[in-house]
Amino acid sequence: MKEVLSNKPIGIFDSGVGGLTVANAVHKAFPNEQIVYFGDTAHLPYGDKSADAIRYYSIKISKFLLEQECKMIIIACNSASSAAYEVLLDFFKEKCIFINVVDPLVKAVIDRGFKKVGVIATKATVRSKIYKHKIEALNQNVLVNQLATPLLVPMIEEGFYNDEISDSVLNKYLGDKRFKDIDALLLACTHYPLIKKEIKDFFDQKIEVLDSTDVVVDEIKHYLLKNDLENEQAKKENLFYVSDFTKSFEETTKIFFSEKIELRVEEIW
Ligand code: DGL
Repeated sequence: MKEVLSNKPIGIFDSGVGGLTVANAVHKAFPNEQIVYFGDTAHLPYGDKSADAIRYYSIKISKFLLEQECKMIIIACNSASSAAYEVLLDFFKEKCIFINVVDPLVKAVIDRGFKKVGVIATKATVRSKIYKHKIEALNQNVLVNQLATPLLVPMIEEGFYNDEISDSVLNKYLGDKRFKDIDALLLACTHYPLIKKEIKDFFDQKIEVLDSTDVVVDEIKHYLLKNDLENEQAKKENLFYVSDFTKSFEETTKIFFSEKIELRVEEIW
């Protein structure tokens, strides 16, 4: 039984193709694991959706990934991790291991003893106050200041980074007074790893800048080992599904994943 399950794929889902930053980190860290990715391109952006809508989409997608017999499901999207993680645990009970991208970042903040932390994310993640609640529940002495930065996702997807446009948008957002004297900034969105260097430069490299791809891999490793789930067979081909296909989505995958990807359309609604 164990052998059968361990050779099944790791499911990863996101609102679109941005979650490929997480898929890429998983692909690099666990080259022997097959990935089945689902990007809900028909419903993006999740950052502007209600928590209920995000929960509904997340349940549908998880059902699809369970039909693909995934041994573990990674919620790569911060907005979905914030809104739907608890609901997925509840809905699917013990059927599968779910990993969200919020808890590993929260753990890193606590372990590393930061005292004043900034969070930038989508409107949905900020509205949930999930980082604030989780960090302050573990250590009341950590101050968490968050800001919704909704321009960053379209800016990155349209290729505006490392240029004067991203410079001016970042100056406006990161210059906000709530980020004065922070010792760490959490990049709580799938897309932000792509502008990490620019963000570090804004702070003159003086603060720690953390994103999910830095920490989620350790969490995955922990669960694979703990449950004896490492793949022992020859690796199967990674599969990438989207709920709506356009050539432009396929083009955009290039900026998030290190290898060329072919998108398959899957109607799950
Ligand atoms: N994937 C989303 C997140 O990490 C960003 C894009 C969106 O709003 O759908 O929150």
